[in-house]
Formats: sequence, C-alpha cells, structure tokens
Amino acid sequence: MKRDFHRIKRLPPYVFEEVNRFKAAFRAQGADIIDLGMGNPDLPTPEHIREKLIETVNKPRTNRYSASRGIPGLRRAQAAYYERRFGVTLDPDTEVVATLGSKEGFANLAQAITAPGDVILAPNPTYPIHQFGFIMSGGVIRQLPAEPGDGFMRALERAMQHSVPKPIALVLNYPSNPTCLNASLDFYKQVVDFARREELILISDLAYAELYFDDNPPPSLLEVPGAKDFTIEFTSLSKTYSMPGWRMGFAVGNAELIAALARVKSYLDYGAFTPVQVAAAAALNGPQECIDEVRTTYKGRRDVLVSSFGRAGWDVPPPPSTMFAWAPVPDRFRHLGSLEFSKLLLEHAEVAVAPGIGFGEHGEGHVRIALVENEHRIRQAARNIRRFLGKADAELHNVMAGEPMPDR
Ligand SMILES: Cc1ncc(COP(=O)(O)O)c(C=O)c1O
Repeated sequence: MKRDFHRIKRLPPYVFEEVNRFKAAFRAQGADIIDLGMGNPDLPTPEHIREKLIETVNKPRTNRYSASRGIPGLRRAQAAYYERRFGVTLDPDTEVVATLGSKEGFANLAQAITAPGDVILAPNPTYPIHQFGFIMSGGVIRQLPAEPGDGFMRALERAMQHSVPKPIALVLNYPSNPTCLNASLDFYKQVVDFARREELILISDLAYAELYFDDNPPPSLLEVPGAKDFTIEFTSLSKTYSMPGWRMGFAVGNAELIAALARVKSYLDYGAFTPVQVAAAAALNGPQECIDEVRTTYKGRRDVLVSSFGRAGWDVPPPPSTMFAWAPVPDRFRHLGSLEFSKLLLEHAEVAVAPGIGFGEHGEGHVRIALVENEHRIRQAARNIRRFLGKADAELHNVMAGEPMPDR
C-alpha cells in the first residue's frame, strides 16, 4: 500500500536533488565538476577553535548530555558578540538560546509558534526553510518580494489587508540567500513600526551577518529601539567561522519567543555536544581576525568570478554580501528556465550551480553561484563556460530538439 503522509505531501521534492543526481552521474563518468552549487563553506575552521574542541573532548564528563538551551558560557559569549557588534544588550539567561545550526532553530521556532492555518509572510525567492519550516508546522505562506524598500512595504500593507486570517509573523533575511541583497537600518525601522502596529512577530535570519564586502556591516533588526518586544533573530557560526558541519547557531531576542523555542527544544534535544559548545564559545570570545580572512577570501573569489565570467560573456552583478552571486540566466537561455540551464552548464561546462527556481517561483530567471571553490577553479569554470557559450548559439536548437551537444 502506498501511504500518503500529510506533511510529506506538502514538501515538494527538493529541486536541488535533481541537479545533484545529474552531478553525481557526470562525476561517476569521470567528469571534474566544479561545484558552485551548494553553499557549503570549503575553508578550514580556524585552528584555535579546533584545538579547543580537542582539549575539551579529552576532559572528563564532557561526553554527557549537555544543556538544551546551550551552556551558560556559550550564551554569555553570544550576548557579548551582540553587544560589541550591534550595540544590542541581551540577557544570556532569557534572551539567548543556542541551536543545532540556525536551520534547526528556525524550524523548531516555526513548530513552537504556528497553529494550523496560521498565515506567515515570507520572501520569495528565499532559503527554503523560511517557508517550509512553517508549512511543515501546518502554517500557510503568503509571499512577499525579497527586495527591501518601498515596493516591499507596499506589498506588506497589501498582504496584511487581504490575508484571512491575519498573518502572525514576518520572515526577513538580509543579507539574503539567494539574492545577496542587504537591508538598511532605516528599512528595518519601517518594518518594526509596521509590526508594532499590526502585532506581527518578526523573525530575522542573519546567518550572513559577517560576510559583507563593503564598509557597511549588515545591521541587526534588534538595533531598532523596541524591536525586541516582538523580534527573534537567528545567527550562525557556519559561515562566519567556517563551521558548517559543527551545527552551531543561535536565536536571540524577545524572551517569550526564546522561551517558546527553548520549550520545544527541551523535548527534542539535549543540546550540542559539550566540546562543540565550548569551542563555539572560544570562536566568539577569541581572536576575530579569522573572520577578516574568511571575508577576504570570499571577496577575492567574488572579484575573480565577476571579472572572469564577464570575459566569458556572462555578466554577473557583484554581490555586496553573502558567499554567493545571484546571476541572471543569459538571455538566450532564459526561455529554457533555470533548472534546464543549470543542467546544460553541468553537462557542457562541468560547472554546478543552484537553479533559482529552487528558491521559489520568483527565483526563476536566475541561478545562484556559491563561492566555495578557489580562485583557480573559478577561472577554470569561466573558461569552460566561455567555450560552452561560444558553441551554444549554434547548437541551442539541437539541444532543444533533444539532441546531445557535440562536446561535453
Ligand atoms: C539564509 C540562511 N539561513 C540559515 C542557513 C543555515 O545555516 P546553519 O548551518 O546555521 O543551519 C543557511 C545556510 O545556507 C542560510 O543560507
């Protein structure tokens, strides 16, 4: 008997899975795929953080169940980061909780606050958990544009007027995955005023707080006076310190929202492995030059990507932040859609990217390129793409007719 699980029915197959299957098939045939698909940081975790992990593993009793909300020293370290970076004061006991990566925290917050049928406002395109965390929890999503600004505020007004029942929460993600857009503090002020008037919960995903390439560090939503009355914000060590596999993130902000998340987590997990938490505290409390190095590396790759892809005939706007570029699909491939274009790039240029459609319908027309290979490999990708684009015009009609291109 084929079972029809209520939640699973609401989760469409991950678009990226299709590209991954394609990628695996080409690799199995010996292709050297340059993988700019997943946002999986390739840089090593700084040595002092790794050393702290090893030192702590070797101490007695660190193998025991840990604290679900995070050990006190780690919560204090996160509060200290908010104070020095954003000038935001947090009570480590009631306004900070450590999460198993920010994705887990986000999904469990959704579970904590969503009643069946609740409407949540979320951007499109966006990182999938921003919508599916709520859909898995029985909520309904109303889409908003990803671009901050006047258009966003107008769409927000309209969404509030026309949604029944009234939305309970708004998700914001700046710097944005996948669009790389930043928000200003002025924009945040408008959103906070609106949320106060409309009694909306604000959920901010600030995973890319430290990956910016100009002199404007992304602000925290909590910098707006009074935002803490209804705001919860997520940050992550995954990108900042190149610790994606360690699974360490945080939620901070409104004590009632933090308590709701902590309550759900207390039923589900015992906290991260204690040595991971101690090493995470060392990351936040220790020397911060390693963040500059991470940022400089991504910036170097970004610059190489923009210039070499441009020379190859593909104009990619330079992203102001994150570890991605959000690239329009070249005009002559637009009609194929971002998924088909991504497959063509894999097959004919041996380059993997993430199709924009995987981030929502308004991501169509773009692909996301992750800066997770070194400059040499990015130049190699550009050379392959140049060759592909050169031949593509002549061959495109064959491809569309289902015939293979001559070189691969
Ligand atoms: C916007 C955004 N939020 C959250 C995450 C998840 O990060 P973490 O590793 O902390 O779960 C990612 C990862 O790519 C992301 O892009």
